[in-house]
Amino acid sequence: MKILVTGGLGFIGSHTVVELQHEGFEVVIIDDLSNASIDVLEGITKITGTKPHFKALDLKVKADVQQFFEAHKDIAGVIHFAASKAVGESVQSPLKYYENNINTLVYVLQELSQLTHKNFIFSSSCTVYGQADELPISENAPVKPAESPYGNTKQIGEEIIRDACKVDQSLNSIALRYFNPIGAHSSAEIGELPIGAPQNLVPYITQTAVGLRDQLSVFGDDYPTKDGTCVRDYIHVVDLAKAHVVALQRLIASKNKSNFEIFNLGTGKGSSVLEVVKSFEKVSGTKLNYKIVARRDGDVTEAYAETTKASNDLGWKTELTLDDAMASAWKWEQKIRNK
Ligand code: UD1
Repeated sequence: MKILVTGGLGFIGSHTVVELQHEGFEVVIIDDLSNASIDVLEGITKITGTKPHFKALDLKVKADVQQFFEAHKDIAGVIHFAASKAVGESVQSPLKYYENNINTLVYVLQELSQLTHKNFIFSSSCTVYGQADELPISENAPVKPAESPYGNTKQIGEEIIRDACKVDQSLNSIALRYFNPIGAHSSAEIGELPIGAPQNLVPYITQTAVGLRDQLSVFGDDYPTKDGTCVRDYIHVVDLAKAHVVALQRLIASKNKSNFEIFNLGTGKGSSVLEVVKSFEKVSGTKLNYKIVARRDGDVTEAYAETTKASNDLGWKTELTLDDAMASAWKWEQKIRNK
């Protein structure tokens, strides 16, 4: 079965391509290479032994999207990762984010609706919950006003899919709300490749340890949490990737309960920033240079997932630990810097 993965050379996309190939799917990747390297294709091929099909394509160009789908009418499902994801940049360039994340989603859905098999998986985010009133956060928690244009594109994206599913009962879709994806493939052939200074915690830690950054700034230790630092649900990217395959198989086998479903993808366990630092120090056997600084604007205090729905309905739960994720992220960082 042929599966289209948009943004398939990105961090989560590339790990998902590997898991799809492990399950025997034929994968076609579309990526515009704006935030990913073509070398990722080699990394995937080294792991699986099979080179996925690849097309460099900008999904903002509607005519190109139409042409692509015209040539691939036999697609059995689409996993749509392609999107811009830097929160700070989205505040500076909101229209770029709406064009990149919303226009492209609409074009893909328009073409998908012409296919025989209309199975669609969407990358959403726990950012839609904002600071939830109850923890762990269930899928029924209210969606809070978005803190950034990036967050808004995820909320609007879900609404667009919901509306499209209402009028087309043969369109089957699942939105996956990721908590904090971290780590790398255990082979260190693929991993996260942030451009410039990382905004996210784990790549900042590994880049500091490898000597690219002087010091990690821990944003605030006066939150009402176990040690005063923010708490998040860090999920290993390989576990996350496997959830996409399971979600897709659910749609292909028509096991979905409605034609638009939403699942949280997290471990269910909250870890503080300092616990992540400690895990890193343990698995790497190094001391990390860090200092406590002021809080970062827009950070929520605590977010971790209620995982019951994913476990009951998808039959999926995480298998890897925070230590596994930190060890794989460290192995990957060392490998790319010693190239
Ligand atoms: C961030 C985004 C979120 C997005 C997700 C994608 C913000 C406010 N939120 O989530 O919308 O979906 O990335 O991966 O940007 N931290 C430090 N020092 C650092 C970096 C981070 O202490 O140098 C702390 C943060 O304060 C936070 C935790 O580490 O408590 C995790 O931060 P990060 O990796 O940026 O993820 P989120 O902010 O949870």
